[in-house]
Amino acid sequence: MKFFIDTANLEQIREAQAMGVLDGVTTNPSLMAKEGITGANSILKHYVEICEIVDGDVSAEVIAVDFEGMVREGNALSSLHSQIVVKIPMTEEGVKALKYFSDAGIKTNCTLVFSVGQALLAAKAGATYVSPFIGRLDDVSTDGLDLIEDIRLVYDNFAFETEILAASVRNTMHIVNCAKIGADVMTGPLSAIKGLLKHPLTDIGLDKFLADYKKGN
Ligand code: G3P
Repeated sequence: MKFFIDTANLEQIREAQAMGVLDGVTTNPSLMAKEGITGANSILKHYVEICEIVDGDVSAEVIAVDFEGMVREGNALSSLHSQIVVKIPMTEEGVKALKYFSDAGIKTNCTLVFSVGQALLAAKAGATYVSPFIGRLDDVSTDGLDLIEDIRLVYDNFAFETEILAASVRNTMHIVNCAKIGADVMTGPLSAIKGLLKHPLTDIGLDKFLADYKKGN
């Protein structure tokens, strides 16, 4: 299972990269704005900085909502750095753009996916990644993990190569459950990734080992 971090915060990206478990980064316009990165030039520069920190795929989202605009922006994003994956919203124009980039050999991430039907369309259009937003489904009393399970079933039925990228992951148990279901990738905050480290018996056990070592020295 690949681990992506869902942030535009360079310090957190560096910290996750330093742990040695990071496979990529996802961003979106809201995450950029949260870091105070505004304006096309600053945003493009920020993507390059992120690519220079991590080894893996970095999703960069188009702002255009029409096919021609998506193609223009996606090509510009893709030419910024070899690690850029063009992130495209799940709309009719977006599906056309996914197919265009798939035919051109450019990696894509289909975002804002909330149903199996949408995931099926993204796979048919050749998306590299599909991003079901599980946290936002949980927010409206619908189990986001059920969607991951259903997409896994459909993709396995037909051996689609599109990778399921569980997005809008909010906590550590989301990560664990996505792993159990077989999501190919998860993208979440650093806090959720670091939550995987924690167990009180580990802390108690380590304290005891260190105390016993000191007794003998
Ligand atoms: O990966 C998608 C993500 O950025 C959305 O997360 O927490 O705003 O639903 P959230």
